[in-house]
Amino acid sequence: MKVIGFMKYLFANWKMYLSVDESIALAKKAASFSITKDKKLVLFPSALAFTDVKKAVGKKLEIGAQDGHWEKSGAETGDVSMHDLKAEGAEYVLIGHSERRADGDTDEIVARKMQSAVGAGLKPVLCVGETKEDLNTVGRDERLRSQLTSALKNVVVKELFIAYEPVWAIGTGDDDNPKDVAEARDIIEKVTIVISPATKPIILYGGSVEAKNVGGYTEIMDGVLVGGASAKVGSLRGILREM
Ligand code: PGA
Repeated sequence: MKVIGFMKYLFANWKMYLSVDESIALAKKAASFSITKDKKLVLFPSALAFTDVKKAVGKKLEIGAQDGHWEKSGAETGDVSMHDLKAEGAEYVLIGHSERRADGDTDEIVARKMQSAVGAGLKPVLCVGETKEDLNTVGRDERLRSQLTSALKNVVVKELFIAYEPVWAIGTGDDDNPKDVAEARDIIEKVTIVISPATKPIILYGGSVEAKNVGGYTEIMDGVLVGGASAKVGSLRGILREM
């Protein structure tokens, strides 16, 4: 029998969908939502909009970054360090999102980012998930096992968020069914307890989540990581209501 936590998380990954002005406007609206104590909304704006969004929400909502570099400072053109993100008010950081992995983040880079995030005092949101190709080759379970093992082996994380995001379900409208997601959750728990026995991971689902399907996931998961549908006020509010 699964024991799912009391708190349900809605992590809104705005990706590169919104301009700075649009991000501020949506953040202000999100900060005015009335949110019950059993739900937590966290916004993940672009790096450029980050500081303004933080100002716009004040203490009403927490903010996360979509990525961060593992070095504290240095010759890293175009990057932002985990330490600076923390200094600017980030509480969380997405690590190993499939869109970053597709742009070159290897398991080794993901592991370095995990260590750096924890060192900077950020809560990492480790994203894992299989591609369609994985399903035809190594399989889902082995892909999850290898991603988790390499990301977690050299790091002690107090509050560990893991987002299970099947890559084929992201941004496609082809969401995974809750039965498969529950199986993936079991695998994630089993692997994590071996590598990091003291950690009780908080496990989210991501991939084409909308108001109409979110309830099926929040019954079996601790929350959801939402892209497209979190970048519009109506659908963001709808998801929050239905979860
Ligand atoms: P999606 O994205 O909700 O647009 O499918 C999810 C994610 O990439 O985190």
